[in-house]
Amino acid sequence: MGTYLVDLRSDTVTTPSPAMRKAMAEAEVGDDWFGDDPTVNRLQDRAAEVTGKEAALYVPTGTMANQIALRLHFRGTGHLVVAENRAHVTTTEVMSAAALSGIAFKSITGDGRGQISADQVRLALEPDEPYDVEVVDLVSVENTHGHAGGTVMSVEDLRAIRKVAQEAGLPVHMDGARIFNAAVASGTDVAEFCAEVDTMMFCVSKGLGAPIGSLVCGPADMVREARRLKILFGGAWRQAGVVAAAGLVALAEGPTRLHEDHVRARRLAEGVAEALPGSIDPPAVETNMVYADTEAVGMEPLEAIARLKEQGVGATFVSGKVRMVTHVDVTDQDIETAIAAWRTVAAAAREEDTPRRSPSASHPASAWSRDGPCSTTGPSRSSTRPPGTSRCRELSRARTRSPTAS
Ligand SMILES: Cc1ncc(COP(=O)(O)O)c(C=O)c1O
Repeated sequence: MGTYLVDLRSDTVTTPSPAMRKAMAEAEVGDDWFGDDPTVNRLQDRAAEVTGKEAALYVPTGTMANQIALRLHFRGTGHLVVAENRAHVTTTEVMSAAALSGIAFKSITGDGRGQISADQVRLALEPDEPYDVEVVDLVSVENTHGHAGGTVMSVEDLRAIRKVAQEAGLPVHMDGARIFNAAVASGTDVAEFCAEVDTMMFCVSKGLGAPIGSLVCGPADMVREARRLKILFGGAWRQAGVVAAAGLVALAEGPTRLHEDHVRARRLAEGVAEALPGSIDPPAVETNMVYADTEAVGMEPLEAIARLKEQGVGATFVSGKVRMVTHVDVTDQDIETAIAAWRTVAAAAREEDTPRRSPSASHPASAWSRDGPCSTTGPSRSSTRPPGTSRCRELSRARTRSPTAS
C-alpha cells in the first residue's frame, strides 16, 4: 500500500480487488462521448435503480459530479447556494464553483456534527432586506458529512430541510459521496435519502472501493443536461467502460461490507482514546472516519501525523484534527498496528514532556508543547529543516499548504 503499512489517509486510497481487475480486463467498451459504452450505460442504469432516480451519469470525479449538479439548478445570473460551512462544496470545491459557474455560498454553521437544521435553512432562505428579493438558488446537503466527522444526516432531518426548500420553491442537491456509509450506519435505504432531494451524486471511488468515478443522479431531463455539462467541463471520456466495470463490482459488493469499516473505525477510536485520553470520544464515530483532536491534549496535529508516518501509518490533517479513514484495504490487524503506533506517539510525547534529570542532557523543550502551540527548539525529526527555522513556523506553513484531504 504505497509508502504506508496502514494507509488511513482516505477511503480513496484503495486498490481494485481481484474481481474488479477481472471485470476491468473483460469489460465491453465503446465511446462514451457518443453514449455507446455498454458498461458505462449499465453502471448508469444500476445507479439510477439503486438511488431511485430516473437517470444517472458516470463522471470521472466527485468534484465534477457536484459541479455539474450544482450548475444544473440555476435560474439566472448570480448564483447563491446554501450549504454547511465545512461541506466539501463550500471548502475544497469553492474555487471550482466560483470559476466554473459563478457560484457563491451562503453558508450555515452546523452543530458539532456538522448538521444543519430546517430552521437554519429557513432563515437562510428568507428574502434579502431591504429589497425583498429571493437570492438563493439551491440548498446543498452532504451525507455523510466528511469534514465534520463522517456524520450521518437522518432521513427525517433531510425531509424537514427538503420541506423548507420546497416551500421556498427551491431544489435540494445532496453530495452523497458516502451516502452508502450513511445508509448502512442508519439502516436507511439509499433510495429513501435520494427521494428527499432533486439531484444527488455518489462516489464509487470511496468506501465502495472502485478506483475511479462518481455518478450524478436525478430526473431524466436534468441528467440529459448534465451530459452536456460533462462535455463542457472536459469530462467526456471515451472507453470508460474499463473503469465502469470496477464501479459495477463496487456497487454490488461495497455496500455489503461497509459495516466492517464502521466497526474498525470505532475500534481505532477506542484505541486512540486509550493511548491519548481526551483526544477523541469513540461513540462520536458514526461511520468510517476517526478524528483525533490532538491539540486538545497539547499535541500538534501535524507533528502527530509526521510521527505516525514514521511508523508507516498514514493520516491527514482535516478540520484542525488528525483524520483517519477505514476502508476495504484495512484489516483488523491494521487497526491494531495503527493503535500501537498511536501508543508509541503518545509515549514519545510524554517522554519529551518529562523534564530531564541531568541538566547536561541535550533534550530541549517539548515539540509537543503544552504551553504553546509548538516549541521553537523541539527535537528535530526532520534533518532537512533549515537552520534557525522554528518548528512552529514550519508547521504553520505546512498547515496553510496542506491540501484539504478527500
Ligand atoms: C464529501 C465529498 N464530496 C465530494 C468529494 C469529491 O470527490 P473527488 O475527490 O472524487 O473529486 C469528496 C472527496 O473526498 C468528498 O469527501
